[in-house]
Amino acid sequence: MVRSCGRRRFLGARPRRTGSGAAPRRADVAARDRRGAAGPADRRRADGTEPPGPPGRRHRARRPGGRRRGPGQPLRRRARPADAGGGAVTSAPQRTAGSGSAPVRGRQTLPWHADPYSDALRAGRGPLFLRRSDGGLLPLDVERWCAEPDAADRTVLARCRGTVLDIGCGPGRLVRALTRAGHRTLGIDVSPAAVTRTVRAGGRAREQSVFDPVPDEGGWDTGLLIDGNIGIGGDPRALLDRAARILSPSGALMVETALAAGDSDLDERFQARVDDGRGTAGAAFTWARLSCHALNRYGRTTGWTAAEHWTEAGRHFVVLRRGSGGGDGVEVGGSTGTGIDVGGG
Ligand SMILES: C[S@@+](CC[C@H](N)C(=O)[O-])C[C@H]1O[C@@H](n2cnc3c(N)ncnc32)[C@H](O)[C@@H]1O
Repeated sequence: MVRSCGRRRFLGARPRRTGSGAAPRRADVAARDRRGAAGPADRRRADGTEPPGPPGRRHRARRPGGRRRGPGQPLRRRARPADAGGGAVTSAPQRTAGSGSAPVRGRQTLPWHADPYSDALRAGRGPLFLRRSDGGLLPLDVERWCAEPDAADRTVLARCRGTVLDIGCGPGRLVRALTRAGHRTLGIDVSPAAVTRTVRAGGRAREQSVFDPVPDEGGWDTGLLIDGNIGIGGDPRALLDRAARILSPSGALMVETALAAGDSDLDERFQARVDDGRGTAGAAFTWARLSCHALNRYGRTTGWTAAEHWTEAGRHFVVLRRGSGGGDGVEVGGSTGTGIDVGGG
């Protein structure tokens, strides 16, 4: 067992007024977060967006100019379920920063694309939260994401081998550090602001969803799902399946979990919006949070084995490898002694 254990720019969708305008205090955030319950899943659509209002208030879909869509006019492609939570970008062409291709109209209304996330990344600071549909707030640590890697990040960086794909790279502190260290590294993110920031910092990044084909698909030595990114898409099983196709068969996937191996269980998915705590929120998407235990369960059904887990500076990490355990798996059950036996069913 290994256990060291004045003027705001609105880019797209009209911002939703969600509060009185005062930024919530951290204590309030923690108290609300402790409630833990996921949002009302029955209101969720397959693509992770919130359903429209009551039928009586719905307007008929009209083309710009007021005319209805006629035969022969293409319907907009629907996002796949696995794309929920940012993956809706699949309807837009992929773009590598610096390629010069024009942004697609309407993408600002997609999750993570517009303010307040973009504003916070540009400014390099929060406050910023995930506002759950049940009212809970989860702080997003923008300042840390925009800073140099900290002690916990460095434990991740030290374990990276070969080529590295940072999935949901944000402003790219890990991409930059890995590039400097000589790893061939690519960050992917659906947020144009995140990609821009990563590239400006000297990293390579691509504006795309993890659920769309990536360069060197199936060949990456290391994949990163850090800062809660196991929540991407709100369907950890789908994300782990996808990671298995992206990484090489001998590749390692490093996942940050919400709770440590010895902690209690947590497996929740919920509707959320990125929210600045001052009344501005982005589009809704589905997100997930997992304990180490829950990651173990999802790993079991997707062919991943936990090879190592550790805690550093209050953050918790697991290294997953392909395979059925066979003695390579490590105990992640803490005091309960529940070991990872991935592949056993
Ligand atoms: C919790 S933040 C993580 C920040 C990041 N790890 C960092 O170091 O700053 C989640 C990130 O995942 C991105 N994201 C969300 N859905 C995604 C998807 N389907 N594919 C790729 N990135 C996605 C968001 O744009 C956001 O930058």
